[in-house]
Amino acid sequence: MGFFITFEGIEGCGKTTQIRNLSDRLTVAGYNTLLTREPGGCRIADKIRAILLDAENQGMVPLTELLLYAAARAQHVAEVIVPAMNSGAIVLCDRFTDATIAYQHNGRGIERATIDSLNSLACQSLSPDLTVLMDCDVATGLARAKRRIEGASGPREERFELEALPFHQRVRDGYLRLAADQPNRFLTISASGTIDEISREITERVLERLALKTG
Ligand code: TMP
Repeated sequence: MGFFITFEGIEGCGKTTQIRNLSDRLTVAGYNTLLTREPGGCRIADKIRAILLDAENQGMVPLTELLLYAAARAQHVAEVIVPAMNSGAIVLCDRFTDATIAYQHNGRGIERATIDSLNSLACQSLSPDLTVLMDCDVATGLARAKRRIEGASGPREERFELEALPFHQRVRDGYLRLAADQPNRFLTISASGTIDEISREITERVLERLALKTG
């Protein structure tokens, strides 16, 4: 069986850069890794991602949003993550079930029990072995996300970035609560150092966890 690591955090927290760096460092260290993301990670789920993040879809009701995330996850788990885990890989996923709790429960206000039952339906029996939470304050994160979107050449995936500040504050608080409730699974990293300092810290802490698992 492989090892499943997820990265979480608010918009602009730097997790996409950090998960890439971790994947590169683990590959150099000789590990077989698979880097993927949600929503997306395979052709069908990428199509669902385009609907979810399209800024023109402002009229999407919270339940539709939740069901689309669950549908994308079901496909991604079955088609990509479970086969990679069965082959013994370290799977690194940029966002997973905790994002649904933070965004659709804490952010949108959907009942936690509804989120939990859809997450477990979509995941079969899979759950992260380790979750890296990149924590940063909401104003800094949103400013960084805005710069990234304005500099991007592809579709403007900004439906969530357009939400007001209190929404993002609830999402951040939700993540911090999840991390406080499950200290053994979560590794909370302050996003305030340089990219390289943060990368080194994450790599060291992940290698410690991997050694515990194999040793
Ligand atoms: P990204 O910006 O990390 O690519 O994630 C896309 C957006 O999707 C981000 O705004 C967070 C949101 N999201 C949810 O609301 N619920 C989820 O379950 C997931 C995976 C992402």
